[in-house]
Amino acid sequence: MIPIPRMPGLLEGPTTQVGKPVSRVDGRLKVTGAARYAGEHAIPGLLHGYVVSSAIAKGRVTRIDTGKAMAVPGVVHILTHENRPDLAWLDRKWKDQDAPKGSPLRPLYDANVSHSLQPVALVVAESFEAARLAARLVEVAYEAEPHQTSLLMNRDITFTPGKDKGGFEPPPAPRGDADAALAAAEVSVDLEFTQAAEYHNPIEMHASTVEYHPDGSLTIHDKTQGVLNCQSWVCGVFNLPKSSVRVLSPFVGGAFGSGLRPQHQLFLAVLAALALKRSVRVELSRPQMFSFGHRPETWQRVALGASRDGTLTALVHEAVQESSQAENYVEIVVNWSGQQYRCDNVRLDYRLSRLDVHTPLDQRAPGAATGVPALEVAMDELAWKLGMDPIQLRLKNYAEADPNTGKPFSSKELRACFRQGAERFGWPDHLPPPRSMRDGRELVGWGMAAGVWDAMQNPASAKATLGANGKLSIATASSDIGTGTYTVLAQVAAEVLGLETADVAVEIGDSSLPQAPIQGGSWTVSSVGSAVKAACDQLAKRLHALARDAEGSPLAGVGSVRFADGHVVAQDDPSRRMPIQQVMRAAGLPVLEEKALSVPYALGRLRHTLGTHSAVFVEVRVDAELGTVRVTRVVSAIAAGRIINPKTAGSQILGAVVWGVGMALEEEAMTDHTLGRVMNHDLAEYHVPVSADIPDIDVVFVEEHDEVVNALGAKGVGEIGIVGVPAAISNAIFHATGVRVRDLPITVDKIRAGLAALP
Ligand code: MOS
Repeated sequence: MIPIPRMPGLLEGPTTQVGKPVSRVDGRLKVTGAARYAGEHAIPGLLHGYVVSSAIAKGRVTRIDTGKAMAVPGVVHILTHENRPDLAWLDRKWKDQDAPKGSPLRPLYDANVSHSLQPVALVVAESFEAARLAARLVEVAYEAEPHQTSLLMNRDITFTPGKDKGGFEPPPAPRGDADAALAAAEVSVDLEFTQAAEYHNPIEMHASTVEYHPDGSLTIHDKTQGVLNCQSWVCGVFNLPKSSVRVLSPFVGGAFGSGLRPQHQLFLAVLAALALKRSVRVELSRPQMFSFGHRPETWQRVALGASRDGTLTALVHEAVQESSQAENYVEIVVNWSGQQYRCDNVRLDYRLSRLDVHTPLDQRAPGAATGVPALEVAMDELAWKLGMDPIQLRLKNYAEADPNTGKPFSSKELRACFRQGAERFGWPDHLPPPRSMRDGRELVGWGMAAGVWDAMQNPASAKATLGANGKLSIATASSDIGTGTYTVLAQVAAEVLGLETADVAVEIGDSSLPQAPIQGGSWTVSSVGSAVKAACDQLAKRLHALARDAEGSPLAGVGSVRFADGHVVAQDDPSRRMPIQQVMRAAGLPVLEEKALSVPYALGRLRHTLGTHSAVFVEVRVDAELGTVRVTRVVSAIAAGRIINPKTAGSQILGAVVWGVGMALEEEAMTDHTLGRVMNHDLAEYHVPVSADIPDIDVVFVEEHDEVVNALGAKGVGEIGIVGVPAAISNAIFHATGVRVRDLPITVDKIRAGLAALP
């Protein structure tokens, strides 16, 4: 094979700004309330919309009586499918950048109802309170049809989805004969898992404030992870030119995937604003946040076979997930199992079952947070059956290259994660047997698991503008969904031009800025960070040329320079230097501006598998009588390439561990299948972890050098932090109690049933 040329413009150490634990630059704005969210913009004459949601899960609206609602003082208009303005009818026009294969939902398009809580009307009033009151008085009659909302009752009615949606890869073809090898294996486990549907539940609920301008153009403040996605979607659906729609989303109060696709509140707010030629806001209530995308309910089977020395001889992983009737929502659930461990006989199978639900939606580490925990629990069960340490079993079958493709990993410091995580946790050489560590009435247990996520990158662009005052501005249409994007982009820019991070202002979340991808998939640092670096590299090149050519320049004839302390400095003679501001003055330039487009380094990427890895270690304490679980210690060791900011990256891992605790022990959307509706649709009954549920979490970033992934060598950390956690907790609960619960969440009732069934 032809050797891969070195990636141009690779950032090499040592660094001064990159790698520093800088506090988030938008922190003050957020804690003082100066950061405005989508539903917080005061606009003169603003109208308020409130959504009327369907009471049935499937069927037709037969009559809508708005008489009583219209009589409420302050009500201006009620939009339904009967009086809505013209809308696009081609499916293509309703597709957003994250739409899976199929027909996207068209709210208020016709009388059809495809899921519970689907919008059937929008009440628009002078006040939020009037709109909400009137929404309750809208009388809707339905013709209901039988619906199916239970995955477990429908998991035999399935189909296999094809390649689709942002690189969804169906499972690779089988290797060897896994079923025969399983039957012949010396030691084996064959296990079923279920995982409840989960909702994102960001603290900021979805809201859109649409400012209507006299010329018919719109300024939209939207809660979204992608302003450009919303802009092009609104333009498609309402047939508007891009020049008359500007979408802003500079601050996002959590999203976790819920803001990847434009949601119906955006559609309804724009619909009303255009119909009434007024500014309109639509904000969803917390229960209405349970009316759209979610992490799908999943059934899985994982079967592993091994020889007595722990060599894996068979691996079967099957999964069935729910999707909606109209769209094929797909996740990569089982492919990871073929990638994580070496095994000659592998069969992976992924199917969907259509239910009468809203199309599911990516939620933090979609697919991996579902499939990898099942594999990692199965590995733990196999380790106990073999009498082997769970780390040793994983090392015995460690994949040096990607077994799915045969490609090498661009870097994979998972061994270092095992070693450093185990050391920090105090993992013993010999784990005491299950149910053998007791402290008073509590049973103590230790568990571990590995995690994996992709290191993705998308094309992105950025503009860098250097002012005569030496301050730098960065502009890109990316979002910051709370991950620290403002901060890390400033650090990258400061690094390239030898400035302090505080000298860089970052502007994002505006559709009029240079193109950037939706913020998701943990790809923002990789994609947008690389674009910022490229724009600053171009500025550096120009500054070098200007400095060399300045009259009487100390850098005359210098071929290679670096940037430090606001100076252009000769590479081999630090005494030859010139302040950046002086370079610009000498050239008579008040500003220097450069725009760059960065694209993934295709050659390197195509020849490697690129991913982040983790090893998670957990201690739990389970009350022997009550079955209540406390997670008392977590160590998460992460390999994710260069860490741009250990503080904000560390916070991503902390938050993701909390998500993992929620998935393992608490989060569960409970559907009443008679009604076809999630019943625990508020934060009182849909449990997420609170501070009292969360122990000290120790995050370890292991060193990982990667020259293939991108010019920064950074892989992104938004999602890897959750992947190993549910399995590590589940394994620790088994170690504490001797009870296996393979249905997430592991709630008290299930543990008590297990304890009662113990011999
Ligand atoms: Mo993330 S689920 O890609 O926002």
